[in-house]
Amino acid sequence: MSGNITFTMIKPDAVKNNFIGPILKQINENGFRIKAIKMTHFTRERAEAFYGIHAGKFFFDGLVEFMSSGPIVAAILEKENAIDSYRDLIGNTNPEKAAEGTIRKLFAESFTANAVHGADSDENAIREGSFFFSEMEQF
Ligand code: CDP
Ligand code: MG
Repeated sequence: MSGNITFTMIKPDAVKNNFIGPILKQINENGFRIKAIKMTHFTRERAEAFYGIHAGKFFFDGLVEFMSSGPIVAAILEKENAIDSYRDLIGNTNPEKAAEGTIRKLFAESFTANAVHGADSDENAIREGSFFFSEMEQF
């Protein structure tokens, strides 16, 4: 059981493919409340900092390149058991393995361009949310 906050991003592939609306609809229909939201664009440096936890992994450079390739939508979401509940909604990291009806199954292009990010722990959700939003931008 996790806390009631998670952090998500709609990634550049899904923004480019006009899936902001359909993804936010899934988020709302699954009982998440939007506490904060903005459309923005990672510089390469900011993407490297955000994904610092993956620095050195084989997919890191490609991930940073992709995440800074176009605009994203960042959001803080609230729901009971938010981390686990949202990871269930988005599905497996690899969209080919994601269950039917999950956001990644519905909207992802590939393993890297997999439509959405979802925080993996309470601690990371707070850290990631603070990366994008000041206290005054969270409601
Ligand atoms: O996003 P998630 O927490 O499901 O996966 P992760 O292991 O934290 O990896 C972060 C992101 O790196 C993934 O969402 C993919 O976009 C990318 N990735 C990749 O391109 N190739 C891999 N083998 C693993 C991850
Ligand atoms: Mg992760």
